[in-house]
Parts: sequence; structure tokens; C-alpha cells
Amino acid sequence: MGASAARKTRSQISASLQGQGSSGAPGPRIAGGRRKPGPAPELATNAYKAADVPVTIGELWTSRQRQMHPIHYTVSYRASFKPELPDYFIRRFLSEQSSAMVLDPFGGRGTTTLQSNLNGFSAIHNDLSPIAQFLGRSRRRIPDLGELSHRLDAIELSSKRSSITDQAFRRLEPFFHEKTIHEIQNLREMHLNNPDDSALSYIALTALSRLHGHSDGFFSVYSFPQISIMPDAQRRNNQKRGLVPEYKAIKERILKKMKRDLSQPLHPNFNAAAAGNRYLSCDATNLDGVPTGSVDLIVTSPPFLDKVDYKKDNWMRAWFLGVEDGMDELPLAIFARLDQWKDFMREAIREFGRVLRPGGHGVIEVGEVQSGDQLIFLEREMAEMLPLDVEGGRVMAREICINQQEFTKLANCWKVTNNTRGTNTNRCLVIRKEA
Ligand SMILES: C[S@@+](CC[C@H](N)C(=O)[O-])C[C@H]1O[C@@H](n2cnc3c(N)ncnc32)[C@H](O)[C@@H]1O
Repeated sequence: MGASAARKTRSQISASLQGQGSSGAPGPRIAGGRRKPGPAPELATNAYKAADVPVTIGELWTSRQRQMHPIHYTVSYRASFKPELPDYFIRRFLSEQSSAMVLDPFGGRGTTTLQSNLNGFSAIHNDLSPIAQFLGRSRRRIPDLGELSHRLDAIELSSKRSSITDQAFRRLEPFFHEKTIHEIQNLREMHLNNPDDSALSYIALTALSRLHGHSDGFFSVYSFPQISIMPDAQRRNNQKRGLVPEYKAIKERILKKMKRDLSQPLHPNFNAAAAGNRYLSCDATNLDGVPTGSVDLIVTSPPFLDKVDYKKDNWMRAWFLGVEDGMDELPLAIFARLDQWKDFMREAIREFGRVLRPGGHGVIEVGEVQSGDQLIFLEREMAEMLPLDVEGGRVMAREICINQQEFTKLANCWKVTNNTRGTNTNRCLVIRKEA
């Protein structure tokens, strides 16, 4: 990005996005706010050029919340993208193909993999975090509701005190009633002893998503839903609000949530497509085990600079999954400086280029980040790294797609509002491998 662009303020940038013939208006929509699948809307060619890459701006997918299959919303994950994003690019780039392999090298909760499977394609879910591994893998086979409720019914959770350690008990006490803690630990232990049991994994996933939150559907006293706050912070909140954790039976809450998430039928080929999935925990710059030229489409979102602390925010999930010990050593890509982020992303794009087949596309979603009063457009920073020679060909920047939308309730709860703070667009660099 040129220095002058980097120095523009948010309003200047916004003006240049809207001016000079940009296609800023939303593209055609069908009833219910969902975009008709098909080719991308018109390209904006005069305004906002980045490294001579054509730019598409508009409401490429709906800004409405929770429009896709409810199985996506089983579990929240900070910095996840909406399933509409991978759906849009899967339809756009794979509509001619009856079979294809999709990859998300920074898989998170598995949005790309799940959406690929919902569209009938297999996928590779890669993420260094064992929590993200579990979130992806636990939806590899989705048993039907009958099997799940039968299974849940047969599990004995409440009759015995669990074997929870004193230290873990003390950390959980501000969040849960004692009986609830024993039920959670009993389920946890059963799952940890049977990691390959897919019905139990799905039940454990649903339990993990119910650990803490605002409503009665969660196991905890009133707490923050998206991240696990520290026990002392929860203790202070309880004092301030005069709250004491009440007993919450976990089985009935798990069942209710499973019913909601499985209320719509899955694609008839879902389980067959998902059976072809692979789950990897490599650094995204070195995807060992993914052969050169074997991937048709990448849809991914790397960490943007040092905005999210995955380890701290997920401490309770890490405990529930028995992976706390490994969390501190994870070499997650968290960078304070733009040049470090760019060096990392250059290596990651080189690796994406290696695994893509010639003619295959990659979509890398980032945001604009604010540094002081400067806005930095990360997709432009990446576009300017290209072309890159890679094993088996060359990676070219093909297009920048900017999805602009109004902020939603969830974003507002993170103190992010349109055009004032934080990211308010999805900015995607589309790359293509040429032979
Ligand atoms: C922005 S999130 C991806 C969210 C995902 N798109 C979703 O919808 O859930 C980035 C992910 O990258 C993972 N990650 C960070 N550094 C990594 C690395 N070097 N290699 C692989 N994964 C990494 C983090 O654990 C995190 O889950």
C-alpha cells in the first residue's frame, strides 16, 4: 500500500470507496435478503485500485444474521466469519465441479469445512489450536437427533460426585453451582476417555457451547457468552449483580440446543462429503501432508495482527477438552507489527500456492485495521506481494472483493459500530494459481 493511502483517515477512505464510479451499491437480491448464487456483481474499475487488481464492492452476501444451516451456530468462536462468505465463493468457483477439495488453513470453528460439506464437497480443516481442531472434527459425522437423544438419555451424569481436581473446582466455582460442576466433569471425563465416539463428541461439542452465557440455556450464572472471563472477574460480576450460581441440569439444556441445531435437514451427501474431510494441526506456512496441486479452493481468514487472544479467551474450553497444557506453547500467528504479519502471510500464500491446483483459487479474508488514526487495508498489503513464484506455478492476485454491510447486534456488543471503530467490512483477496 502506498504511504499516502495508509495515511488517509477512515472518512477519506470511505469517500474514495464511494466516489469515482465505484460500484458501491448493493448487487441484486432475492426475497429474504439472500443473494442469488451466481457470478459476482459488476467490477469497480476506476476507484480503489490495489496493485492493479479489479475490485468488487457491494453486499455480496446478506447482512442478516443466522440465515444459513443452524449447525453453523452450534458454537461461537471469536473472529469467525459468516458461513455466507465461504458459501458465496464455493458457489462461485466450484459450481461447475461435481467433486472438489476445499481447504481452510486457519480453520477456526470450521466454518469453511462445514459449509463445503453442506454444499456436498469434502474439505481439509487445518488449525494449530487443539480447540479449533475439536470444533471442526466433532462435526465430521452428524448423527441424527434420534440417535443423539437416545445416547444422551443413557448417559448417567448426576448420580455421582465427579473426580474433578480441587484446583479446577475452584476456578469453576464462580460460574457454576457445585452439582452442575460435577455433571460437566462427568461428561468431560466420558468424552476424554472416548475421543473417537462421534455421537459423544457431538454431545460434548454442544455442552462446550453451553458452558457460559447470558440466558437460562447456559450452564453458568449470568456470564459473557463469547469468551471465558477469568474466575476473579466473574466473582466480581457476581458480587456487583448480587448473583449466586444456581443448579442448572446440563442434559436438558444440551438436548434443547441439539434440537434447535438439527431442526433443518442436512444436504443428503453431507456425511459422505464429510467422511472425505481431513483434519490437520500444521502451521499454515507448512501444510505437511497436503500434496502439491491437490486443492481446488482455499477459503480462509488469518489472524489480523494482535487483536484476539485465543489462549486466554478460551481457557475454560481448553480445560473442558483437556488441552490446557499445550495451549501456552502454540506458535499462533500473533504479531504486533505489520511487517511481521506481512512476512508471515507471504510464507502462508506461498504455501497456499503450492497446494492449489493450477487454475485453483484462494480467498483470504481480512479486515481494515486501525493503527492510531491510520487505516491499513490488509488485503491490499497482500495484493502487493503478488505475483509469487511457487512450487508448480505462480500465484496471481485476481480480484479484491469487499462485502459492505451494516453492523449487527453482535458486532455492537463488541463496541464496534459502522464507520467508527473496528472492522465493518469483509475484505477478501482472491488469488489464482497459474501453471
Ligand atoms: C480468524 S481465525 C479463523 C476463523 C475461521 N474463519 C472461522 O470461521 O471460525 C484464525 C485462526 O487461525 C489459527 N491460527 C493462528 N496462527 C496459526 C498458524 N500459524 N497456523 C495455523 N493456524 C493458526 C487460530 O487458532 C484461529 O483459529
